[in-house]
Amino acid sequence: MSAEETLKQIADEVSVCTSCVLHKTRKKSVPGEGPANSEIMFIGEGPGMNENEQGRPFVGAAGQFLDQLLAQAGVTRSDVWIGNVVKCRPPENRDPMPEELAACNVYLERQIEALNPSIIVTLGRFSMGKFMPGAKISQIHGQMRKIGNRFVIAMFHPAAALHQPQLKTTILADFAKLPQLLDVARKELARSASVAVKEEPKEEPKQLSMF
Ligand code: URA
Ligand code: SF4
Repeated sequence: MSAEETLKQIADEVSVCTSCVLHKTRKKSVPGEGPANSEIMFIGEGPGMNENEQGRPFVGAAGQFLDQLLAQAGVTRSDVWIGNVVKCRPPENRDPMPEELAACNVYLERQIEALNPSIIVTLGRFSMGKFMPGAKISQIHGQMRKIGNRFVIAMFHPAAALHQPQLKTTILADFAKLPQLLDVARKELARSASVAVKEEPKEEPKQLSMF
């Protein structure tokens, strides 16, 4: 199955999923969207009111601010994949519960595997917590670290910056670094791929062409 087909399949499964209580109150599930070959994957928290109506991620106020952050960083929204740790809206936008995060994690894991992004950008603490348990956003925001064979950057949630205006400059500056960080990630991934090929001489060097 191609990455695109896998992502479609996951979205189909999510739309009928009953693995946690959030299915009871959802209108539309929000599986996430974007091209299957996206180099950057953004992972937010969960659908809000507008997302629940439309079945699409980040289409409300936080989404408008995300659009602005992406545009100012020179990143085209339609070039990146955007999703959430939970695919159905928590009632009244409450925090997702541990059992909901655990139940929905299977979809996120499969989405990450299918997309195989160079960089994952986490938006907010629940998304950050998946990759960097115990980290403090105030200390690590905007920094890129290698986790396994990809890079993860923890960003403040755009909605937090809407509620706390002093965060706005910080989040704008963090997003402005994205193109440069993507460049670093590309080079490092190409370098580690070439080291792997040298260590394993039978490997076809042709595989490198994707970088
Ligand atoms: N906030 C999120 O974390 N995700 C959305 O999709 C919308 C708002
Ligand atoms: Fe299923 Fe995730 Fe929706 Fe819960 S939030 S019902 S696990 S798709």
